[in-house]
Amino acid sequence: MSNRRPLIAGNWKMFKTCSEAVETAGQLVKLVAMASDIDVMIAPPFTALAPVSDIVRGSRVSLGAQNLFWETEGAYTGEISPAMLVSTECKYVIIGHSERRQYFDETGETVNKKIKAVIKNNLIPVLCVGESEKERESKETFSVLDKQIKKGLEGFSSDDLETLVIAYEPVWAIGTGKTASTDQAQEAHQFLRSVLEKSFGNMLAKSIRILYGGSVKPNNIAELMAMPDIDGALVGGASLDPETFSKIVHFKK
Ligand code: PGA
Repeated sequence: MSNRRPLIAGNWKMFKTCSEAVETAGQLVKLVAMASDIDVMIAPPFTALAPVSDIVRGSRVSLGAQNLFWETEGAYTGEISPAMLVSTECKYVIIGHSERRQYFDETGETVNKKIKAVIKNNLIPVLCVGESEKERESKETFSVLDKQIKKGLEGFSSDDLETLVIAYEPVWAIGTGKTASTDQAQEAHQFLRSVLEKSFGNMLAKSIRILYGGSVKPNNIAELMAMPDIDGALVGGASLDPETFSKIVHFKK
């Protein structure tokens, strides 16, 4: 048994206006009020962070952002700084999601700069890694994961990474309804932990939470969570509906 505290995180992506986000968050706060021994996070779009923050304050639900820019401030039209997120009482920041890597030219280098900014501002990074279908078919899964972790975490000491969360999200399983089998997911998580161990030592590798993401639903969460190296989930589609997301949070029942 690990003593890692499970984390169920909802990535709302580009869904929900402010009023929709406030309504969903309000329902969720009530639905998960009794959830214990588990952390719950939702990452609404930037525009909804401040109003949702007012709703979740003092509840079991923490706030996350889906991205940030690494500079402190300046002439960077359209970007959001770490301090702006801190001002909304954001706790977590998702970095390097495959959609950002795929559609917005996020690279290992920009991911690394963003993680630095997140840590420097005492926010918790959720670093997303994962292979494409083509990479899995050509048996490159492990080399891709190794590269994404090493590049993303380049230049850090184990002390810097105490709060780090990793999300393993096979790109072919995101929004497709295809979930990695529990064995495939466990194998990847175990591999990620071994990469962390080699780079940062056993203590840190054992304490870091590694979430699975990719078509997580109420009907597959329990079997995923039964795997020894799976410490939670990063949920996209199924996090948009509060009832469905709450069922995932309450996977033990
Ligand atoms: P999904 O998305 O649950 O809709 O597959 C997961 C994610 O992209 O984080």
